[in-house]
Amino acid sequence: NWTMTNVVDEQLALIREQVGTKRAICGLSGGVDSAVAAALVQKAIGAQLTCVYVDHGLMRKGETEQVEKDFVAATGIQLKVVDASERFLSALAGVSDPEQKRKIIGREFIRVFEQAQAEIVAEAGADGEDVAFLVQGTLYPDVVESGGGTGTANIKSHHNVGGLPDDIEFELIEPLRKLFKDEVRMVGQELGLPDEIIQRQPFPGPGLGIRIVGEVTRDRLDLLREADAIARAELTAAGLDREIWQCPVVLLADVHSVGVQGDGRTYGHPIVLRPVSSEDAMTADWSRLPYDVLGRISTRITNEVSDVNRVVLDITSKPPGTIEWE
Ligand code: XMP
Repeated sequence: NWTMTNVVDEQLALIREQVGTKRAICGLSGGVDSAVAAALVQKAIGAQLTCVYVDHGLMRKGETEQVEKDFVAATGIQLKVVDASERFLSALAGVSDPEQKRKIIGREFIRVFEQAQAEIVAEAGADGEDVAFLVQGTLYPDVVESGGGTGTANIKSHHNVGGLPDDIEFELIEPLRKLFKDEVRMVGQELGLPDEIIQRQPFPGPGLGIRIVGEVTRDRLDLLREADAIARAELTAAGLDREIWQCPVVLLADVHSVGVQGDGRTYGHPIVLRPVSSEDAMTADWSRLPYDVLGRISTRITNEVSDVNRVVLDITSKPPGTIEWE
């Protein structure tokens, strides 16, 4: 694709010129945008870039490993992985309110990220002036939504930029600012990133934390992670990944349902499947998935995930329902 080759070449030159001999930091979320932005900057400045990935313990099965192994293997990037799951889980203990969960997760994320940044800056030199750039995967729609601002006010940036320590001033590098999602995927392809990263469906920053209706605990996360992995595996096996926008799998942890499994009566929880089709997540329709695929997912989840005795399908459009349950 010659157009994307041009975009890549142009950006490589711009980034090299902008950064010079200094260093840059990039926060990786596991999503497409930050991955492509990081790979592009990596290609431009190599070891002058360090990426930070905060594992909040709310990721889906295999996601952290994917960033650690596949992404590093494809790019050779210097990656700092911070395991902060204990910290997030204790901050979330006893909290059921969705807004409060989001606030806590956002706050903890910024704290952990800041700490990692400070460590990188300290390792780089006495005053850290050497580390002058922050890479962000801001896309064109993000820029438009934020009124064409510098990126500090948009949704994508708030995790990374809002909480920078006052004494460190970063200049932003946003190489995807003029691109739409499909173009970003093409750039990723151009850079040789694996399909598992480029074709990822959207996944919310607060992760599984907002897919447990009720308090977030380690046991509940383990259970939801298993159910989610089964649903994803079956959707992939059925070749439906490109057809659906995303399929949140939600644990109704505060709801108990009666079932009959094995030798007797069980008292467990329902799992909700929320497959949607969409262009931009602003509106969405529920996906008409084949019954046999739904059937397989249901059978496997109820057989393989303990404490789940019911699988239900969400057939609400957006509006009125949002894509996520919280
Ligand atoms: P809703 O539920 O509002 O979701 O219809 C629209 C899209 O946004 C994702 N989403 C989030 N992404 N942080 C994110 O980074 C969040 O707090 C968040 N909440 C929802 C959701 O997965 C869907 O793609």
